Amino acid sequence: MDWTILSEPLTIERLTVAIADLPPSLTGTKIVQLSDLHYDGECLSEKMLAQAIRASNQENPDLVILTGDYVTDDPTPINELVLRLKYLQSRKGIYACLGNHDIFFPHSKKEVTQALTRIGIEVLWNQISYPLGEELPIVGLADYWSSQFRPKEVMTQLDSNIPRLVLSHNPDTAEILQKWRVDLQLSGHTHGGQFVIPGYGSAPILVQQVRRNTPKPLQQFIPFLKQCSEVMKHWEWAQGLHQVGNNQLYVNRGLGTYAPGRLFCPPELTVITLAAQ
Ligand SMILES: [Fe+2]
Repeated sequence: MDWTILSEPLTIERLTVAIADLPPSLTGTKIVQLSDLHYDGECLSEKMLAQAIRASNQENPDLVILTGDYVTDDPTPINELVLRLKYLQSRKGIYACLGNHDIFFPHSKKEVTQALTRIGIEVLWNQISYPLGEELPIVGLADYWSSQFRPKEVMTQLDSNIPRLVLSHNPDTAEILQKWRVDLQLSGHTHGGQFVIPGYGSAPILVQQVRRNTPKPLQQFIPFLKQCSEVMKHWEWAQGLHQVGNNQLYVNRGLGTYAPGRLFCPPELTVITLAAQ
């Protein structure tokens, strides 16, 4: 089944994020974020992908950030996907972290990383890079659900007086990352919950509430309640900009769409402009 017909039109979200200690030379830096492509023949149409690449290029970004889940479990389609992604343009490069679906099989991480690297995308797995200069490092963390999610080893390498951007696929990591300075964390993973109840928020928040009010012995008969909580703990961070302790978190709704589609939760391309605080 091709679930892309139950998607919604691509939406461009624009926001300005204030960064403390941002050097004046980086004020106005424009970052495009794409996430959760799920290029598997079912979740993402060629049309939507082409549209997103075109829209990103039209922004003429300084930096393009990709926050994981390029494929859905089988990593093979990454080799086709990169033939499209190679048309992404960015003045200072394209930086990526991996998501849980990119490491599903033992060989997945290597295959996905190699394909992205082949077209010049830098994959950061507990690594720091400096495309914007020494004064604004970019940290890319290993996926939260991998055995290698060790933020301490990476974050403690940085001088706490220097602002930094952190790429971490799963927004739940924001809870742990409160121990360190994170001026802006960029995440995906949630697809925004895919269903949004107008005036209420992401549908999984409601599902979690139902779960909390359902006696434990009964919960096993409603598998969806458990699955929802397994994907995410903090569904209140399903999309958009959030303050988490002293840190800022932005969650992109993703491009791909799982069954049974999206409702009031369109696929997203994010355009972030950095401003001084
Ligand atoms: Fe994910």
